[in-house]
Amino acid sequence: MIPTYYEFTNPAKICSGKGALEHIPYELKMLNGHCPMVLSDNTLKKLGLLDLLLEAMPEVAVGRVYTDIPTDSSVETVNQIAREYRAYGCDSIVALGGGSVLDTAKGLKLVISQHTDQLLDQMGCDCIPSGLKVPFIAVPTTAGTGSEATAVAVIKNNEKRIKMEFISEVVLPDVAVLDPRLTMGLPPRVTAATGFDTLCHAVEAYSCLQKNPVSDAYALAAVSMVSHNLLRAVENGKDKEARYAMANASYLAGAAFSNSMVGIVHAIGHALGSIAHVPHGEAMAILLPVGMRYNLKYCRET
Ligand SMILES: [Fe+2]
Repeated sequence: MIPTYYEFTNPAKICSGKGALEHIPYELKMLNGHCPMVLSDNTLKKLGLLDLLLEAMPEVAVGRVYTDIPTDSSVETVNQIAREYRAYGCDSIVALGGGSVLDTAKGLKLVISQHTDQLLDQMGCDCIPSGLKVPFIAVPTTAGTGSEATAVAVIKNNEKRIKMEFISEVVLPDVAVLDPRLTMGLPPRVTAATGFDTLCHAVEAYSCLQKNPVSDAYALAAVSMVSHNLLRAVENGKDKEARYAMANASYLAGAAFSNSMVGIVHAIGHALGSIAHVPHGEAMAILLPVGMRYNLKYCRET
């Protein structure tokens, strides 16, 4: 059934496939980004993925490379990076990483665009104006969170010991770069868990009450890609085609649930993560079958 009214937002340009990283200088130029801040983490630096990114953009005058981003991004981290962004005269963001790095970049964009130096100033704001233009290129290194396509930043408030969600179109990237070279080294268990997160985003987006025909199209395409490629990527991490398909599935599922939301599986999964420290993707794999069984009668009614 088509809802009587719905909205769908997915403004990011996608640079996807072979040599996608090498397109970043052009995209920055088109966005008027001349002095980007590059965000990543120390694990990706050790693995050589940060070098891969920097080597792909030799003509870009990078203002600052920042890699001290913890596994769970925090308000303090975002505020510190915002100070450095201004001190080094940066005018744009290139973020290479998984959920935490991309969430940090989104928090940074929020702080800079709203002319503040405290992320918490934006806490609980329903309506955040677009503010200062901050070109933002997201380069995911896992195929799971779909963060490069979502209008949500999850950032920890260490003082209150809670994870906060900042939801605004302001945090959406301008460009998402999906390069299969970046996920080739992920171990099988991480590939499986993050792949299940993607599947769960798509299934919950397709079965929740806020779904619409456009989010349905994205979700179904993601389910199809996961069903044909996740096992291949787990069994052979060097399968470029399967890795590439999973990166696309993650993006599509992210765009779907960013617009139609997720449901009970994520609600319980987040609680399991906070209290019992169950990794997010593994929680999704455990909970998806029972969550869907629970939802079945409601899905039949709608
Ligand atoms: Fe998820």
